[in-house]
Amino acid sequence: MQVVSISSLKGGVGKTSVTTGLASSALAAGVRTLVIDLDPHGDSSTALGAPTGSLDIGRMLKAPRRAHLSENVVPSAWTTHQRNTAGGTLDVAVGSAFTGIYDRPDLGKRDLRRLANVLAGVDQYQLVLIDCPPSLNGLTRMAWTASDNVVLVAEPGLFSVAGTERTMRAIELFKREFAPSLTAAGIVANRVRSTSSEHAYRLDEMRSMFGPLMLEPYIPEQANWQQIQGAAHSVHHWPGESARSSAALFDELLAAVRKQGKQTRR
Ligand SMILES: Nc1ncnc2c1ncn2[C@@H]1O[C@H](COP(=O)(O)OP(=O)(O)O)[C@@H](O)[C@H]1O
Ligand SMILES: [Mg+2]
Repeated sequence: MQVVSISSLKGGVGKTSVTTGLASSALAAGVRTLVIDLDPHGDSSTALGAPTGSLDIGRMLKAPRRAHLSENVVPSAWTTHQRNTAGGTLDVAVGSAFTGIYDRPDLGKRDLRRLANVLAGVDQYQLVLIDCPPSLNGLTRMAWTASDNVVLVAEPGLFSVAGTERTMRAIELFKREFAPSLTAAGIVANRVRSTSSEHAYRLDEMRSMFGPLMLEPYIPEQANWQQIQGAAHSVHHWPGESARSSAALFDELLAAVRKQGKQTRR
């Protein structure tokens, strides 16, 4: 089981989009996958068409030893859309505002282990993707404590480059103190506009700063992305050439993330 946190310092850069894109590829490839929606906004639960009514992840974190994750996850609506493809699993640990109580900067060691404890003994998944909230506070650190790898999402702009460097440093410090086997699986450049010279410049800058940590392919700005997310559909199930080419990009990205996981698995 490879546990991957999808993180960034700030909101709106595409954590949820990358999480759901990777989940779509994993489902299409028949990989048994769980998405944990750790953002109090619950966007990935919405995008994955996860039915409400189950015990959400916030309440599971409250009592990790009694949480019984396997009984409280729900299947994503995508599994019915893609029933006839590869027969993979895509479950969701549903997000809720309740998780917000843990998003403090001063979370102690015991609280940091809450998600790891919820996941303890869970072995039916090959891949766990954790969609993190837009900060490096308690919830993101709780996700890192439970993870093998961190994928950072960044847009190729001035502030994101600086933010990514800060986040890399935060991961290094956190690793030393709390999670020695945590590794950065890489950086995903999202919303890349091929016609923008500023984007090309920032991507060059990021490649020289982060070297092989820059994952490929980059994910371009896609006109119909919000429409697909709004309909709670997977990119693999959406008709049209542009969705097909996005799906292929996420397939490649998933392979890169999985490869990194194989090299660093605990
Ligand atoms: N590659 C992309 N192309 C077009 N729109 C995108 C892309 N990635 C993200 N978006 C849009 O940008 C907004 C923020 O993305 P989201 O994934 O919710 O970011 P985060 O989870 O980091 O806050 C959403 O409305 C989403 O649809
Ligand atoms: Mg999000």
